[in-house]
Amino acid sequence: MIGISPTDRVFILTGAGISAESGLPTFRGEGGLWRNRRVEEVATPEAWKRDAQLVWEFYSMRRRAASEAKPNPGHTALAALERTLGDRLFLCTQNVDNLHEQAGTRNAVHMHGELFKSRCESCALPPFDDANTYEPSAALPRCECGARIRPDICWFGEVPYDVDQIYRALNECTLFVAIGTSGVVEPAASFASHARSRGRTFYVGPEEPANTSAFTECFLGKAGALLPDLFRYE
Ligand code: OAD
Repeated sequence: MIGISPTDRVFILTGAGISAESGLPTFRGEGGLWRNRRVEEVATPEAWKRDAQLVWEFYSMRRRAASEAKPNPGHTALAALERTLGDRLFLCTQNVDNLHEQAGTRNAVHMHGELFKSRCESCALPPFDDANTYEPSAALPRCECGARIRPDICWFGEVPYDVDQIYRALNECTLFVAIGTSGVVEPAASFASHARSRGRTFYVGPEEPANTSAFTECFLGKAGALLPDLFRYE
């Protein structure tokens, strides 16, 4: 169990593992999205320049899957934690699905963007809600300025979203919990060691992550099984 005192400030970092029990594939490991395709082909600015159609196909496929997924008890437990802790909880997710929101979380920060949002690749119009799945043969959507519409996703080589807000929350937290993330993609992989200089750090997932030495303790198991009974209010 993880005890939370009335003065604790809690930072939660989630990764693909928390959505695995909702039927969405992770990236690495068996059945992972990066098992049968290369990051460079679909998730970089260079891929977009080379073959935007292929990139849209990849994200359309993920939109289809995510639009059918439902939150699992792990997402629900984190929404309950937010209701209890209010602004003493900061939830940062690397996931681009909307399962935290579907479970009732109000303030998830999506550092890698959101699957159901798109934006112009060129002009300053803000991102907009977009649940379309573009057929491979269809023309790519265009902005009113004439440039192409791209997924509102942080690709490899781009700067993650809301980094200033994230580091402020990391500097303030006394308790850090990473859930379902393999600990290999920066900058998120370094959040635990950053937080450890100030407080306790925990990991939840079926296997130890690559950055396991940054954690005070690892709880090995599935997020949906462990999270509902993991937190104790002191
Ligand atoms: P990974 O696929 O690298 O890691 C998923 C982790 O979830 C693994 O460590 C699994 O052990 C764990 N896991 C699997 N089932 C689980 C369950 N039921 N409960 C809890 N944990 C479980 O995914 P991420 O670490 O999220 O970035 O990947 C980080 C980033 O790399 C992604 O946001 C994405 C990817 O490339 C971009 O696309 C920019």
